[in-house]
Amino acid sequence: RIAGTLNIPKIVLTRPLMPEIMAKFQSRPVNLTCWETDTPAPREWLLDNVSGADALLVMLSDKVDKELLDKAGTNLKAISTMSVGVDHCDLAQLKERNVRLSNTPDLLTSATAEIGALLYLAAARRASESIAFIQRNQWPQVGWGPLLMAGQLSENKTLGFLGFGRIAQATMHRLVPFGIKKVIYTDSGRTDRSARNAELSKTYDIEIKRVDLSTLAQDSDALILLAAMTADMKHIINRDFLNNMKKTSFVVNVARGPLIDTYALNDAINENVIAGAGLDVIEGEPHIDSNHPLVKNDKVFLLPHIGSSTVETRYAMADLSVSNALKGAYNEDMQSQINL
Ligand code: DGY
Repeated sequence: RIAGTLNIPKIVLTRPLMPEIMAKFQSRPVNLTCWETDTPAPREWLLDNVSGADALLVMLSDKVDKELLDKAGTNLKAISTMSVGVDHCDLAQLKERNVRLSNTPDLLTSATAEIGALLYLAAARRASESIAFIQRNQWPQVGWGPLLMAGQLSENKTLGFLGFGRIAQATMHRLVPFGIKKVIYTDSGRTDRSARNAELSKTYDIEIKRVDLSTLAQDSDALILLAAMTADMKHIINRDFLNNMKKTSFVVNVARGPLIDTYALNDAINENVIAGAGLDVIEGEPHIDSNHPLVKNDKVFLLPHIGSSTVETRYAMADLSVSNALKGAYNEDMQSQINL
């Protein structure tokens, strides 16, 4: 349909979705403007095409900021993002303009928690170092050795979480059966979680305790990052934090890359301050090439931000974000609308 037709809402979509999901746009009259290749929509394209939009359906790689909102103009009613994270959206700007925002929580909890568990085990058992060892043809010379690639057992260990929301709890649920003795976490503390923690403690028969940041660093045998990214959280895992960690400990990041100071992490691993890392996200992604220090570091198990990437999950996320974009464009309530 031709964009700009009177009274028919305009939706701008920044990445083509699965054909079955795209078909949903035919359920109501809309003028759909869609970036057509399976790559991130260039910023210039978005700025050039957003004018007059009633709703935008964006990916986490699209910055929804003042510049974009100015270009969109006063027609804009809603943003639907195909992600749980909303750190790519300027929430204050959206609130000021009365533009609503919806995301895709819950649907991706299991998939992301699985990747959290995978990265935890990969880092604990030195998977990436072991793979590099084989690929470098070192195995034939070294053979089976008493301490070859000896990692860390999970039994009786303390698992630390930065952020202790739904995905962190789902990750804990998957790891407790490995014999974890205690869970500690640090969060914003804005919500009183003592009743929930008492319940979880009883269910899993382990101690669960909220601690301050320095205790989190000192006492975690493994630290799993599952906190939302906000400006005050940038590089919260820095040199000082890492220096306080145990030499045998490791860091897992399933949240957002900028929570960690990349260079401090790389140095801490190379200087044996900590044992390694499992990362699904990295500062500067996706512009990470084979020369990046963390890519070259054998003790880092790095994935390309695939936490929620199971077929079932991505279909569900795409489906919800299209429903929300359609509702948003028609100025109706969206599911999982964020309280701005
Ligand atoms: C999200 O939805 O925010 C996740 O990072 C995507 O996997």
